[in-house]
Amino acid sequence: MTDNHRIVLITGANKGIGLATARELARAGHTVLIGARDPERGAEAATGLTTEGLEARFVHLDVTDPATVAAAAELIAAEYGRLDTLVNNAGITRDFGHTPETLPLDDLRATYETNVFGAVTVINAMLPLLRKSPAGLIGNVSSGLGSSSVLADPDHPAGEYAALLGYNTSKAALNAVTLVYARALRAEGIKVSALEPGHCATDLNHHSGPSSVEEGGRRIAQQLGEALSEPSGQFFHPDGGRYPW
Ligand SMILES: NC(=O)c1ccc[n+]([C@@H]2O[C@H](COP(=O)([O-])OP(=O)(O)OC[C@H]3O[C@@H](n4cnc5c(N)ncnc54)[C@H](OP(=O)(O)O)[C@@H]3O)[C@@H](O)[C@H]2O)c1
Repeated sequence: MTDNHRIVLITGANKGIGLATARELARAGHTVLIGARDPERGAEAATGLTTEGLEARFVHLDVTDPATVAAAAELIAAEYGRLDTLVNNAGITRDFGHTPETLPLDDLRATYETNVFGAVTVINAMLPLLRKSPAGLIGNVSSGLGSSSVLADPDHPAGEYAALLGYNTSKAALNAVTLVYARALRAEGIKVSALEPGHCATDLNHHSGPSSVEEGGRRIAQQLGEALSEPSGQFFHPDGGRYPW
C-alpha cells in the first residue's frame, strides 16, 4: 500500500460509467467500493474486478434509501476507518419520450430523488469518513446538460437534448450542490468538484453516445486526479478544460 492508495466509493458502480471508473481506479492501485442498489448485480460487478486481480468490494447502497446509505457508511467505518474519495455516479433519466410539458411530475420527482437528493444523502453520510482522510475528495458525476450556459445557448451542439426537463435541471441542481459543498468544506480541505464523462453509450441513453464506457471511465478517473490537485469547485469538461457553470 502506498501513500497514494485511496479508498474510493462509487455509487451506481455495477454497470456503465460507474463500473468503468471503478476498473480504471482499481487498475491504478486503489481500493474500490462498488456501491450498488441490487445485491446480485453489485456482487457480480465486484467479483468481475477481483477475478481480474483488482481490489474491489460490493457495498449495498440505494441512494434513495437513507438506511442503506447509513449502513454502507457503518461498514466502511468498520472495515477501512476512512473514505478518501466519494464518486456520486448513480443517476437516472425518465425524460425520453416526453416533452417538458408531458413529463409526469412523479418522474420529475424520482429523477431528483436519485440525481440530487441521493447525492446529498450519500455526501452527508460519508462526510465523517471523508474527514478522516488526509485528502478527502467528492466527485459529482454531472453533465454538460446541467450547465446553465449550455442550456442558455440556442446554438449549442447539445441543444438536441436541451428539452430533458428532469435530467438537465437535476444536473443543474447537482452543480449547485457541488458549489455549495465546495464552499462549505473548503476550510476543512475536502475538495468537491463536478465531473463529466462525455457522451457515452450506456443503458441511460439507450446506447446513443459516441464514446465507450471505457473512455468515460478513463475521463472520470483522470478528472478525479486533477480535482485532487486543483482548487475545489471545478466543473470538468470531458475534452480537458472546464465547463461553464
Ligand atoms: N452516458 C452518458 O453519456 C453520460 C453523460 C454525462 C453524464 N452521465 C452520468 O454518468 C452517470 C452514470 O450513468 P451511465 O450513463 O453509466 O448510466 P447507467 O449505465 O444507466 O448506470 C447508472 C447506474 O446508476 C445506478 N443507480 C440508479 N439509481 C440508483 C439508486 N437509487 N441507487 C444506487 N444506484 C442507482 C444504476 O443501477 P441499476 O443497475 O440498479 O439500475 C447503474 O449502476 C450518471 O450520473 C449519468 O447522469 C452519463
